[in-house]
Amino acid sequence: MKLFGREIIHLSAIDSTNNFAAMLISDQLCQNGTAILADSQSYGKGQRGNSWHSEPGKNLLLSFVFKPDNLSVARQPELTWITSICIVKTLGKFNIEAQIKWPNDIFVKTKKIAGILIENQLMGEFISNSIIGIGLNVNQQNFGEFNATSIHSEIHHEISIDLVFRELCDQMNLFFDKLNTNEIDQLKSEYESQLFQKNEVCEYEDQNGKFQGKIIGIKESGFLIVEVGNKTREYGIKEIHYCSK
Ligand code: BTN
Repeated sequence: MKLFGREIIHLSAIDSTNNFAAMLISDQLCQNGTAILADSQSYGKGQRGNSWHSEPGKNLLLSFVFKPDNLSVARQPELTWITSICIVKTLGKFNIEAQIKWPNDIFVKTKKIAGILIENQLMGEFISNSIIGIGLNVNQQNFGEFNATSIHSEIHHEISIDLVFRELCDQMNLFFDKLNTNEIDQLKSEYESQLFQKNEVCEYEDQNGKFQGKIIGIKESGFLIVEVGNKTREYGIKEIHYCSK
């Protein structure tokens, strides 16, 4: 039986689908693969403690509950890779060429179209529950000060949020199967091939200031590898900042 989307909980309004998922997990009220969707969130959570803003009823706001089998904490980056790839593939089905801005922002050219917030619960050194939160801009067209885009803005017509959701579930069901196989190298290569600014010399900033470098890939640990001159540097989350071109 298909995993992702086999149980769907659709809410009109909630604080955050990730918080709601955490509550269902703690009350043992959801299955592996449950999808929690909301039309609007009053406290949508983004990465790095930011909030996630979305016009009510316009976008895909969802959290998948995933209960992995024997997935060690060290393999957490794989969840990020697969989810990012699945969003890029979903957008591809709507003729949108998206890229992954490391570690898990989904961009169309220089604008963000989707974000991912994965919150894991651990049992010893294993991930017992993973809440995979996804915000994907579907029909919103006005983003105020944010440098963002949506499917509608890219393809110039409205699209059913449910259709996008079903396509995403299909991709998740296809790709998450690979977690239990030895196709991880293939997934890593696929993620790397979709990296934003890969193999381009661009400006970045780290704790020592601005520099010109070239993203060449990632480590198994999820760290970003940047070539600077004839050396390489490795960065964890928050250790490198992209300067706009
Ligand atoms: C980011 O900052 O890029 C991550 C954004 C993640 C937003 C989604 S919307 C659905 C789910 N529920 C939340 O509270 N956040 C995630």
